[in-house]
Amino acid sequence: MSQKDSASLAERYASLQAELARLEHAYYVLDAPLLPDIEYDRLYRELLDIEAAHPDWITPDSLSQRVGGAALSEFVSVKHAVPMLSLNNAFDDAEVIHFDRRCREGLQASQVEYAGELKFDGLAISLRYENGVLVQAATRGDGASGEDVTANIKTIRAIPLRLQGNAIPVVLEVRGEVFMYLADFAKMNQQAVKQGEKEFANPRNAAAGSLRQLDSKVTAKRPLSFFAYGVGACEPREWLPKTHSQLLDQYMDLGLPVCSERKVLHSVEDMLQFYRDIGAKREGLPYDIDGIVYKVNSFEDQAKLGFVSRAPRFALAHKYPAQEALTTVLGIDVQVGRTGAITPVARLAPVEVGGVTVTNATLHNEDEVRRKDVRIGDTVVVRRAGDVIPEVVSVVLDRRPSSTAAFQMPTRCPVCDSHIERLADEAIARCSGGLFCGAQRKQALIHFAHRRAMDIEGLGEKIVDQLVDNNLVRTPADLYRLGFTAIANLERMGEKSADNLIQAINQSRNTTLARFIFALGIRHVGETTAKDLANHFRDIHALMDASTEMLLTVHDVGPVVADSITSFMQEPHNREVIEQLVASGMQLAVEEKKVSAAVAGKTFVLTGTLPTLSRDEAKERLERAGAKVAGSVSKKTDYVVAGDDAGSKLTKAAELGVQVIDEAALLDLLAQE
Ligand code: IVH
Repeated sequence: MSQKDSASLAERYASLQAELARLEHAYYVLDAPLLPDIEYDRLYRELLDIEAAHPDWITPDSLSQRVGGAALSEFVSVKHAVPMLSLNNAFDDAEVIHFDRRCREGLQASQVEYAGELKFDGLAISLRYENGVLVQAATRGDGASGEDVTANIKTIRAIPLRLQGNAIPVVLEVRGEVFMYLADFAKMNQQAVKQGEKEFANPRNAAAGSLRQLDSKVTAKRPLSFFAYGVGACEPREWLPKTHSQLLDQYMDLGLPVCSERKVLHSVEDMLQFYRDIGAKREGLPYDIDGIVYKVNSFEDQAKLGFVSRAPRFALAHKYPAQEALTTVLGIDVQVGRTGAITPVARLAPVEVGGVTVTNATLHNEDEVRRKDVRIGDTVVVRRAGDVIPEVVSVVLDRRPSSTAAFQMPTRCPVCDSHIERLADEAIARCSGGLFCGAQRKQALIHFAHRRAMDIEGLGEKIVDQLVDNNLVRTPADLYRLGFTAIANLERMGEKSADNLIQAINQSRNTTLARFIFALGIRHVGETTAKDLANHFRDIHALMDASTEMLLTVHDVGPVVADSITSFMQEPHNREVIEQLVASGMQLAVEEKKVSAAVAGKTFVLTGTLPTLSRDEAKERLERAGAKVAGSVSKKTDYVVAGDDAGSKLTKAAELGVQVIDEAALLDLLAQE
């Protein structure tokens, strides 16, 4: 390579470094990407190619050095040039008022200005830049010396390997917090589960665990981030501005990430207001914080106030109530939801979490209890965030008593004693009590009365609530025994509407077998399956006694549906309710199939609004005539019936050459013998 070529390649190399640094800064610090990822990747590969040809050009601040080097055998200890201090904590307003008074007295001032910022829940780190280049990164350790984690820190894209701008000090120790965004944390844990690895309990532990890796290639895969909030050594000292808030502004000019949730505060009222404002936002922040930090803003005043032991007199952490706490598991119960879903719940020794006393925490489902291996007697970490139900995060295995037993899912519903089943491929176990189970009663009744089921007009959620709460109705069969007075006595129920409801209930007896089967609310038995079952068995008792094998012969019934039906029908309570319903005088009509030769066996797709028929009516008439109605257009579709505002289905029909007809043509087809 000629000298000239080499010179221009060196120029290209330098400009690539600058361009890539600018892109990383925009992406990771400003959260405002400038180019698509693939363009970044292309430039990055070009950089690697040049470095492969000229290894002697590689400097420690090359972006390729974010991941490099061999794994360490141990971390080397680093003495901090300026000690890394801790903060005194305040847990209530009075302590903040006291802190402000002490500062004002110490400075003999009537008013002190503070910088208010967030207290991030991560790990404190000191970054040493010499002439703008990151040369060392160390953990806090005991405050006097920490561990050299430079290789790991370099993998964090939010941390610049070289500072930007032209006002760069000779030495600058940037202090700040390494943490993980909640979304990144969740994604990482999901992946861990998929790969059968252990999950981290919280973002803080995940950040700490990731930084403690001796192999920086492992750290590089962890989505760590960083916010700068302080300064250690600085040469020349004059580089520092007058105030802390100006320092953070200057940091931003250097390309360092600084959190935007910060404010200059002028009084103790301002401080408490800032604490409350952030408190209200806390749940919505994309990272965990455990409080607010107030720092006397003027560096000169900070120096005047000085330190007591290892904490400065000029700063204070105002903590929010903890969202996690330790407690013991007194028992594990299961709860039944409105759809019969069974949720294991830990009964806990009462404990305060985030200002609220918690006595129960969800364990989500059977697999979760197994995975976390929560047992009665265990000490557990409980977490509460906002309005979310408290959950058991993890078990402190160290504190497990000697005789404990693994959790066993009960086999019977605690509410109705029906058996609990867990269908293949489902995480949730369910009570099979359906119509009978008290926990599912309201839901079952609302479904039973639905327009497309028994079609009992006027029997909505509010009435069902009252009927059940007043113990007037336990199962759908009870509806047919309701007297006029009982209904008329319900809240906001006039005589007229009571009369109407009684009539609607009476009329609903005159129904079809298909509607009746659908109304039972058997899991996985929707309207279409109910119709298929009705046409096939033609009698409710035949369905009640059908074996799995018999069910599998029905059109479109697979093993999951068949299992669900047999398990429902095996439950004595459900059989009892069905018998009572039948005995109350149900007329369960089975539709005569008036098979129309023109449409029987053909597949139709409906789209758009038809002039006279509703979608449901068109579907019903087609099905009665022996046609199939599908939801989407495919090669198997025979006709698309299009009304007004038909959309993509029409386009699809044209693409596949499927015949498109209007309502009139449909009615013609249906009229043909
Ligand atoms: S300043 C001179 N500011 O809290 C004071 N610390 O207990 C030195 N922390 O180890 C710390 N957010 O890990 C400061 N905005 C913030 C902070 C913060 C979190 C952590 C830091 C430190 C601990 C002090």
